[in-house]
Formats: sequence, C-alpha cells, structure tokens
Amino acid sequence: MCGIVGYLGPRPVLPLLLEGLKRLEYRGYDSAGVAVRSPAGIQVCREVGKVASLEAKVGLERSRFAGTEGIAHTRWATHGVPAERNAHPHRDDKAGIHLVHNGIIENYTTLRKALESKGHSFQSETDTEVLAMLVGELYEGDLESAVQAALKQVTGAYAIAVMAESEPGVMVAARKGSPLMVGLGQGEYVVASDPSAIVAHTTQAFALEDFTVCRLSQDGWRTSNLHNAPVSPKVMELEMKLEEIELGDFPHFMLKEIFEQPEALRNTLRGRFNAEQGEVILGGLQQVGRDLVKARRIVLTGQGTAWHAALVTEYMIEEFARIPCEVQYASEFRYRNPIVEEGTVLVAISQSGETADTLAALEEGRERGAMTLGVVNVVGSSISRMTDAGVYLRVGPEIGVASTKAFVGQVAVGALMAIYAGRRRHLSIEATKHLLVELEAISDKIRAVTAQSDLIRDLVAKVVDRENWLFLGRGYNYPVALEGALKVKEISYIHAEGMPAAEMKHGPIALIHDGMPCVFVAPKGSQHDKVIGNMQEVRARGGRVIAIATEGDEAIVPHAHDIIRVPECPEALSPLLTTVALQLMAYHAAVLRGHDVDKPRNLAKSVTVE
Ligand code: G6P
Repeated sequence: MCGIVGYLGPRPVLPLLLEGLKRLEYRGYDSAGVAVRSPAGIQVCREVGKVASLEAKVGLERSRFAGTEGIAHTRWATHGVPAERNAHPHRDDKAGIHLVHNGIIENYTTLRKALESKGHSFQSETDTEVLAMLVGELYEGDLESAVQAALKQVTGAYAIAVMAESEPGVMVAARKGSPLMVGLGQGEYVVASDPSAIVAHTTQAFALEDFTVCRLSQDGWRTSNLHNAPVSPKVMELEMKLEEIELGDFPHFMLKEIFEQPEALRNTLRGRFNAEQGEVILGGLQQVGRDLVKARRIVLTGQGTAWHAALVTEYMIEEFARIPCEVQYASEFRYRNPIVEEGTVLVAISQSGETADTLAALEEGRERGAMTLGVVNVVGSSISRMTDAGVYLRVGPEIGVASTKAFVGQVAVGALMAIYAGRRRHLSIEATKHLLVELEAISDKIRAVTAQSDLIRDLVAKVVDRENWLFLGRGYNYPVALEGALKVKEISYIHAEGMPAAEMKHGPIALIHDGMPCVFVAPKGSQHDKVIGNMQEVRARGGRVIAIATEGDEAIVPHAHDIIRVPECPEALSPLLTTVALQLMAYHAAVLRGHDVDKPRNLAKSVTVE
C-alpha cells in the first residue's frame, strides 16, 4: 500500500510527480502529497482524498512548486486517519528532512518516545513522521549517512525517498520489505514503487534489495548497505509497455482487464506446453520439478483472489496428480504452528508478489524446511525473489484494484502445474493431451463470455438495488462462488456471501425470501443435478435464481430466472470461464451503483502490511 514517486533531473518536477502518482494510485488513495525543491526552499502540499484533489490544490499555487527535484506519495492509511496532517511527505522539526514512506515502522512507539524526550514534537499520528524525525536527529550534513544510521534503529518494512533542505541535487532512497525501483534516464532519475511510474521516462531501472540505500545526485548514483559497504544492483530493461498501463478506449481498468483475459491467458500459456505430445514445459520449475512430483504434501497459500485461485488449484492437483493438497490463508499459516514435514512444498500465489502476509507465510515455511514455489505476476517482486523456484503469470500489469486477469493466470498456472505433476504420476497421455487441447481453447471461449457484457449489465440492473446476494457453486465452481461474492463486495459494496451450494441449507437458506439474488455457478459437470436441486430449494423460498450455465444446457432453463451462458469445457477448466461472467456482474453492479470501480473505498491493491 501507498505509492512513492521521486524525481531528480532537469525537467519541471510537479507534472511529472502528479502523473507518477496517478499511475500508482491503485496502491492507496485516501490522501496524497508532494514536496518540491524550489528556489525558496522545499515546498510541501498535502491533501485528503485522491490525487485529483491534490492536483487541484497544488494547481492553485503552481508557481510555488517550480523546481526539478521532488518526492510525492499517495497513501493508504495505517497509522492515523486520512487527514492532511497524516499525509506524506513528512518532515522533521530541525534539519529540513522531507520523507515519503511505504510500509510500517514497527518500533515507532519506542522511537517516538525517545525522540520526544529529546524535545521533538510531532504533528501527526504516523510512524513515518517518526522516521523523518529520526533522520533529522542523526543528520550532520550528509543525508545518505543519516538515513543509513536511522534505518539501523528501525524494525519493520519501508520503502522511502528522502530530501534534505541543505543538500540540493541529492535524493536518498532505501528499501526493506516494501518495493522500490530506481529508473535511470539521461541525466535524470525516477524513484517509484513500481515500474508503471517509470516507463514513460526510461526503461533502464533496478529494484532496490532489502537493506539497500541509494544516493542519487547530479554527479551519479551509488547503492550501499546500512554499513555503507557498496552494493551492486542489477540494472534491467523494463519490459512494461505504456499502452499496458493506459486505459485506451475503456472507461475503467477493471473492464479493460476483464476484456484482456483471452490475450492474457494466451501469454500465460505460451511456450509452456505441447498439446500434441502431451507435455508441459515449465522453465521456472526445471530445477525442482522432481521434488514437486515427489511431494508428499502441497500447501497452497495466498490472500483474497489469489486464495480463491489456490482453492481451484487444490482441486486440480488432487484430481490430476493425486498429491494431498491443502489451502491456507497466508495470514493464518504464519501464526498457527503449521506442520511442515519432509516432502512439503509450499506454493505462494500472488499477483503483486508483495503481499505482506503471503511473504511472511513463505518465510515461516522456508524456516521449517519446506521447498517454496511462487506463482506471481510481478517480475522481480519480493515473493519471486525469495522462493526456490516459480512460474510467472505473464498477464501484464493489473491496475484495477479488484483482481481479474491475475485470477485467470493463477488458475491457468495451477492447471499447468497439476497436469505437469499429474502426467508424471497418474494421468494417461491421452487424458493429458485432451486437457492441454482444451486449455488452449479456453482463450477464445472467454471471448464468448465477455461478448455478453451488455446482457449481463441488463440482468444485473434488475437486482442491483438488493443489498444481499448469495453465490453458490459445487466442486470446481465453489471457489468461483467465493470469488464472485468477493468481487461484488469489493466494488459494489453489496453484501455478498459465497459458499458450496449444499452448505446453503445448513443455515444461509434462512435468509432467502422475496427475490433475493442467488447466483448459481452451474456449468455442466459431475454435480449438475445436485446444483439444480439447490436452485429448486431457492425458488421454493422466493429467491431469484441467476444461473451461469453451459451453452445448450436446456435442463436448467425452468429453474433459473436469468441465465448467462458459458461455452462447454472440461469441468476442471470451467472456473476460467464462469469467473469471467461473475467479474462482469460485479463490474456492472458497481457502475450501476455509481461507484469508482478502479478505486473502491478502503481497499488497496497491494497489501504490504499485516
Ligand atoms: C488485496 C487485493 C486483492 C488481492 C489480494 C492479494 O486484498 O485487493 O484483489 O487478491 O490483495 O494480493 P496479491 O497481490 O497477493 O495477489
């Protein structure tokens, strides 16, 4: 959470910082701020609300912000309510230190008390102001060494960018736990939480490693550890293309990303299997393939949508590979004294690769001797770097806060891993070939679902004023029901619950009355008759049945008030189609209710705090 951008170079910095903040706004948007070095000293403007509010405020006194060096921040509150005093940049009260921060300083209370006893007084409730104050306290004319010294006293997570009033032309950045990149342009630098705020300016960049401090100045740059020993980062060419992070003709990133799913899936699968030979080729698992196939137990972990993708993967691994598999919330796994025996493989699933709980679960698993694998979208992210091996999703940047195309990528990678291990254990060559041919065909089939976007909007319009929805599914489509409910909650703020369809009669059925929307994820499959039975139970109690059903399935018609059709495919792969229908339902519900789809209230895309 929280987005950081900093710039040092020859160009007017304010528009550059605002543009960078807009690109990073998905990371948090309850307040924002900038600090710009002007001829009259460092000028600060902070405002509650989205970046547009900051832009309006700073626009009123633009001339004050003339300069070519600055730092900026968009916030997702952790310590202290969204308020101007808590917005970043924060400054110290002595040395003219200005600092933006993403992460959490865990020992901030102790540090704050110590600083207060030395006479410092604080304006905010944030942990960040404590860090600014600490850097100021240790500052003796060299920002880099003051930052190194301060960070030695800090526990927790941070990505920071810092300027000092008395050192024009110098910026210092540092990282532990939260992501931070440095873009290297022609005589200019861009520091940012992710490449989306860098690629418009340069494609040469490096990611800061944990406990690394970077000093940027007009004379060049250098990186060191907290003890000032030089560190050599790996400068890379950023592959992100500008059009990938721009809206184009779409009204929202979420809709764009839903419609991108056929291509995204193609990218996930490209070069990773040969259907004719029934072969799965996962380069990222080459070194550990044997261990995966021989695993005694696979534990899948993640949060949110990634956790739902893990549930689908669990079903696939157990069905195809017959390896005992379980799914655990990363936030639970890390604290519950988990069982990790010889032969346990821990797989972390994450779009961002930065989710704090998922990272911590991995650390816990690794400590206990598990082999760790990552199924991650963001290349070079923390999870991808700390796992023994892994598979990238390759679905391109996901900007809408509600995850969509990453889910499809995660499930597809799950399928590939399950088929890979399955083929080496229980799956026949014929069954393998069949699955791979069907997997290849899914991309085009997704188009048949997105083509119904208008129909889905009209259908949703009939129930959009209802405050409680149920999502029900069985087998592979039980996790899809959970994901559908999550999507609706996240962006339309309708209360929605997902559950196995059979579980309904153990309690939730009491809720059903008077047209309550009940969405059945019911493509053809082994439990189809049972799902139809559950639909009848809902209708008998006055519920409104919306079914996601297979094309040509006439048996379902008498039982549903409305139907969204998905093309036929093997049951195990059906989540790749049914989920898309639910994404569109949630999207249209949110738009019809007038919500900001890409920036839902209280949420942030990347949850880098516990
Ligand atoms: C947040 C996002 C969700 C996402 C979850 C896990 O809660 O709002 O959309 O599924 O984090 O994120 P990750 O990056 O680990 O997939």
